[in-house]
Amino acid sequence: MAATALERCPTGIEGLDNILDGGLPRGNTILLSGSCGTGKTTLGLEFLVRGAMAGERTLFLSVTEASQKIVENLSTFEFFDHKLLEENKIIFIDVPILFEKLGLSKEELTPEDIDLFITSVSNLAASLKIQRLVLDSVTSVCFRIRHEEKIRDFILKLGKSLSDLSCTTMLVSEIGPQSSRYSQYGVEEAIADGVILLGNVQRQGDLLRTLQVIKVRGTTHSRAQYVIEITPLGILLAPFLKGGRRDGGNHE
Ligand SMILES: Nc1ncnc2c1ncn2[C@@H]1O[C@H](COP(=O)(O)OP(=O)(O)OP(=O)(O)O)[C@@H](O)[C@H]1O
Ligand SMILES: [Mg+2]
Repeated sequence: MAATALERCPTGIEGLDNILDGGLPRGNTILLSGSCGTGKTTLGLEFLVRGAMAGERTLFLSVTEASQKIVENLSTFEFFDHKLLEENKIIFIDVPILFEKLGLSKEELTPEDIDLFITSVSNLAASLKIQRLVLDSVTSVCFRIRHEEKIRDFILKLGKSLSDLSCTTMLVSEIGPQSSRYSQYGVEEAIADGVILLGNVQRQGDLLRTLQVIKVRGTTHSRAQYVIEITPLGILLAPFLKGGRRDGGNHE
């Protein structure tokens, strides 16, 4: 029997889509991991903006930064058009405000609290017809869940409810610079359908940003390390060459 190709959700970041055979499998939950300043928020935003430009409805759930500030940063990208906000193609929600509205004020979330949060996110995604979602960061939510089994359950349920809506999701995962894992608790990376790792590499006095696709279920992809550049035109990828030289092209 011939294999059926999975429907793809192009990230809109050309170099990344080349690695991913056209994009992420639609409905997948991807962990976007990296230490501070490696470009997680920027990559998540570009993923949403490129989708919104293609007519999709997208949602950014911000836990760590006020969305007002994120929109201001977004304005520095040449490809961003404020019309996308006015037309609700890209919607920002501050998770601390959502928590407050849901009455989730206790520091440690109970299983009932977690279920309420998941239901509220999936109801929002369903009513707004969201096709791409970024949660920045899932680590901050996991800090309030604390226990591995509950975190496993949270990510499984959240991923399933969004996948049922054909929503492709990026969960931003904050890790230390020398971490041997891709997530704070280790379970997040096992549950996610994919892991994209962003990092820093010191080379010849320059601190390069790197990107590596660690896993994406149902996809044959390169696991090579790429150098990324954050430019006003978006994220550009170039092969990471031995010795730290960079190829100027935006290709594999
Ligand atoms: N419009 C832009 N043009 C060029 N570079 C930019 C632009 N916006 C952000 N950057 C670069 O991206 C870097 C930060 O990226 P970003 O905020 O996406 O990282 P992060 O991994 O989300 O960081 P954190 O861990 O603090 O949340 C900045 O230090 C800056 O160098
Ligand atoms: Mg960030």
